[in-house]
Order: sequence, then C-alpha cells, then structure tokens
Amino acid sequence: MASRLFYDPIVLLRVAPLVSSTCTLLYAADQDFFLGILNQSEHDIRAKSRSLLPSYFATFFRRGVVFVVGCLAATTWSSVANLYVRRQALVARQSGWWYVASGALSIGHLFFIPLIAPSVKATIDADKEGADANASLDKWLQINRIRILTVDLGAWIASVGAVVSTLAA
Ligand SMILES: *[C@@H]1O[C@H](CO)[C@@H](O)[C@H](O)[C@H]1NC(C)=O
Ligand SMILES: *[C@@H]1O[C@H](CO)[C@@H](O)[C@H](O)[C@H]1NC(C)=O
Repeated sequence: MASRLFYDPIVLLRVAPLVSSTCTLLYAADQDFFLGILNQSEHDIRAKSRSLLPSYFATFFRRGVVFVVGCLAATTWSSVANLYVRRQALVARQSGWWYVASGALSIGHLFFIPLIAPSVKATIDADKEGADANASLDKWLQINRIRILTVDLGAWIASVGAVVSTLAA
C-alpha cells in the first residue's frame, strides 16, 4: 500500500480525508495545549496572561480560522469525492458509510460555532467590555475539549475506518 500511494491517485483520494482530519485533530489538540498553559494558575501565568489575552486571541483566531476551515473543507469535499469516484469499489467493500460519516462529522465541527463564538468574542473584547478574559478562556477551552472528543475525533476515526475498509487487501 505504501508504494501504491505514490503512483495511484485513487489511493491518494482514498487517504485524503484521513490526512486532513488528522490535521484538524492535531491542531485542536495543540490549541488546547498552548492556550491551556495561558489559563493555568502555576507561576502566576493566569494573572499575567489576562492583559495579553484580548489582543493575542484576536490574532490567534483570525489566522487560525483559515487553517481550520481549510482542513474541514478538505475533509468534507474529499469524503464526498470518494463517494463518486470508482463507486463500485466502495459498494463492494461497504465502506461508503465511513466516508459519509467523516464528511458529516467534519461539517459537525461547524455546529459548534454558536456555542464557542461567545467565548471568542468575550476574550477578544474583554478590555472594552470590562469582562474577565481568564473566565472566557476557561470556557473556550472547555468547549474546544468537547469538540475534540466528539466531532474532531469522530471524523478522524471515521476516516481511519474509511481507509482501512476500502484499501485493506
Ligand atoms: C483572572 O485574572 C485576574 C487577575 O489575576 C483575577 O483577579 C481573576 O480572578 C481571574 N479570573 C478567573 C475567572 O480566574
Ligand atoms: C483552564 O480551563 C480548563 C477548561 O475549562 C479547566 O479545566 C481548568 O480548570 C482551567 N484552569 C484553571 C487554573 O482554572
């Protein structure tokens, strides 16, 4: 299979949702890691990060969202493409549902927008609103963790299932 990857574009297409959903999952876990350090109380980090958070988070969000949306679009559209290209192979192996699941769970990430948007706004506008950026970052981390363990991990597992069931000998 490893060598086929290099000359068979169909294999690349079969694997594409796994690559992009791995990027989504790792990026979300990295966000939890890096931003989670800013909310910890050890070494006074929490108190110090409070003044940095509004401007930091504004840039972080503006640049990060492009990558996240790009990876989600890649997972969604490559999952859909897999359902149409050499469809008989998926039907024979009954692996199409895995691609349906990876595409659907990838779109599912977007359903978290209304849940997480208030914490994004509260953190960015904390100075203007006299709000507490520590508290909104806690909330953001909490929702991001739920998102990782549901749709992001779910899309990744579905992509693994899709690749294994479609390409296994
Ligand atoms: C955020 O940090 C400030 C300054 O250290 C502190 O007074 C406040 O209680 C913190 N907020 C939360 C929710 O921990
Ligand atoms: C940071 O946020 C996470 C997620 O909400 C929470 O579990 C953790 O207790 C917070 N850390 C502190 C020091 O409040």
